Amino acid sequence: MTVALVPGSFDPPTKGHIDVVERCANIFDEVVVGIVRNPSKNPLFSTEERTELLQACLPYDNVSVDSFSGLLVDFTNRRNIDVIVKGLRAITDFEYEIQMAQMNRHLSGIVTLFVATKPEFGYLSSSLVKQVRSLGGDVDALVPAPVKAALDERFPT
Ligand code: PNS
Repeated sequence: MTVALVPGSFDPPTKGHIDVVERCANIFDEVVVGIVRNPSKNPLFSTEERTELLQACLPYDNVSVDSFSGLLVDFTNRRNIDVIVKGLRAITDFEYEIQMAQMNRHLSGIVTLFVATKPEFGYLSSSLVKQVRSLGGDVDALVPAPVKAALDERFPT
């Protein structure tokens, strides 16, 4: 039984995130989506809101949502995670991601696998979604329906 962790901020989850988790759900026995609790980042959505949004977007028996603070490798040890999976959009993601993968390997020996994101979501990020939506731009095609509803509530037009 192989358990994969897809970690991230998910503030908010985008269609790019959901695509990566769905593909992991088809490959691994179990997938844990791990939301990093990081109060210093001043997220738009609370950890509880992000948990509910991810659960609403991922109605699969083998996918669960959890959150963690502190080191990622402490969470992977605690939850008996076998592998970390990260989505890669472009070569610019690679530098930071390989650094984290190697540090995590140094800390605990855990393997990180990279999944190439769907090309149509190659430019997509939670930060851009928030910025564009807060300024009145249309992001409806880029986020799942529950996230669109949550953004509409946050930024009424
Ligand atoms: O969606 P993000 O913001 O790119 O996710 C980054 C995340 C959560 C994977 C990263 O910030 C993280 O692992 N944070 C936990 C703290 C930690 O373990 N830092 C050392 C990693 S090498």
